[in-house]
Amino acid sequence: MSRTSSKILGALIVFGFALSALSVYAEDAAPTGDPAYIGSGKCKMCHKGEKNGNIWEGWLETKHAKSMESLVAKGEQNNAECLACHTTGYGTPSGFGADTTMHNAEALGSVGCEACHGPGSNYKSKKVMESREASLAAGMIIPTEATCTKCHNEKSPTFKGFNFKEAYDKIVHHVPEVADSTAGKTE
Ligand code: HEC
Ligand code: HEC
Ligand code: HEC
Ligand code: HEC
Repeated sequence: MSRTSSKILGALIVFGFALSALSVYAEDAAPTGDPAYIGSGKCKMCHKGEKNGNIWEGWLETKHAKSMESLVAKGEQNNAECLACHTTGYGTPSGFGADTTMHNAEALGSVGCEACHGPGSNYKSKKVMESREASLAAGMIIPTEATCTKCHNEKSPTFKGFNFKEAYDKIVHHVPEVADSTAGKTE
């Protein structure tokens, strides 16, 4: 091998290391900038199944997952007034309607995970999700009654009042407790 070609090879190796270091960095860092809606289907892979509390499966059974079907049954699926509460993120740059590929329940065409937990693009990575603090900083919302009453209010044509406790019991979901050596210890 000539001196120049080994120099070039050396430079390429250094360049390669720099690139891989950069991509590792990119994976570790939480994305910044305005969070965008990504669709419930993106939460599914980590929040489905018995060991994760069947959160995905439970949501699919709720009226929230079927909210578009109610509009279709009334022929109102293109009425912006109805879509505002029957979809996720309606009227925002990344919400339902802005992206025409997002029209099903797994995407944004339902009252999806992000309708209550906030747009997920910045908190969806495992590293961020494992820390409540990091998730909150990346835009994740721990919903309260005020989250519900953005939609459960008298502007709904079928509104008959809203009892938070009763409504909460119908949609409640949990991550199972993990039995480990730190159980019972206080932080
Ligand atoms: C790469 C896997 C992964 C994806 C994708 C993911 N999550 Fe998570 N999520 C986790 C893990 C792991 C936890 C921590 C679970 C625990 O408390 O043991 C978590 C916790 C949560 C929590 C509870 C936070 C807390 O501190 O109480 C919420 C709410 C949540 N996720 C919502 C979502 C939503 C909504 C989406 C989709 C936008 C999503 N997650 C996508 C892995 C994921
Ligand atoms: C983005 C709007 C939106 C948000 C936020 C929202 N909901 Fe709903 N909810 C709906 C819509 C729309 C329906 C009706 C779906 C259908 O039947 O088509 C519904 C239906 C329900 C139902 C079933 C109908 C009933 O009254 O028994 C329950 C229970 C419920 N929501 C509870 C909650 C709770 C609890 C919260 C807050 C933690 C919440 N919702 C947040 C829009 C929303
Ligand atoms: C302010 C938010 C909001 C708006 C706007 C809204 N809805 Fe709803 N819709 C809800 C909520 C919340 C529920 C479930 C509880 C209730 O009826 O209040 C619901 C429930 C429904 C149901 C199921 C009712 C049942 O008895 O099972 C239908 C059908 C429906 N809406 C159709 C529509 C149509 C059509 C429009 C537009 C003309 C519309 N909604 C506009 C929030 C809204
Ligand atoms: C109607 C609103 C609503 C929807 C839709 C919703 N959640 Fe939640 N979620 C809540 C509320 C309320 C809590 C309880 C918050 C608290 O701890 O006070 C919660 C808690 C959680 C937790 C933490 C559970 C624990 O054990 O602490 C996870 C994880 C989660 N949600 C994931 C999801 C995923 C994934 C989806 C979609 C498949 C989803 N949620 C859809 C309202 C919602």
